[in-house]
Amino acid sequence: MRGRFWLPALLLLGACDTAPKVVFEDASITLPDDPNDLPEAPGREAVLENCTACHSPSTMLQQPRVPREKWEATVKKMIELYKAPVDPKAVPQIVDYMVEVQARQSDVSRETPK
Ligand code: HEC
Repeated sequence: MRGRFWLPALLLLGACDTAPKVVFEDASITLPDDPNDLPEAPGREAVLENCTACHSPSTMLQQPRVPREKWEATVKKMIELYKAPVDPKAVPQIVDYMVEVQARQSDVSRETPK
């Protein structure tokens, strides 16, 4: 297995007797945090593009459930206070997404189906 010579990670795995098959899957987008933390919902792309550069999806979603106005204020705060480079056209989508996802989270009482 030539791969072992390339990647230190594989070297480590190679030390196991039963070397597990390592599969690197192509992710649609590369982020420091796991983008899968963001559930599918309309506006998800806008959030990935505009909101995940500075903090993880969980920072955004592990918030108490708040009304739409609060999300609008939060996005505004990100832009004005933290200089988040947010596309103004994306703001309503981002707000929609946050409201929708929070509503869902409380519906399923934090079940995380895997
Ligand atoms: C330029 C960097 C940056 C970007 C981009 C950014 N944020 Fe933030 N965000 C921050 C910082 C800094 C904090 C404060 C973190 C802390 O207190 O630990 C924060 C905190 C938050 C919080 C926690 C609650 C609060 O009010 O502090 C939420 C929710 C949040 N961001 C949502 C968003 C959303 C939604 C977007 C996309 C529109 C976004 N952020 C984009 C920098 C950013």
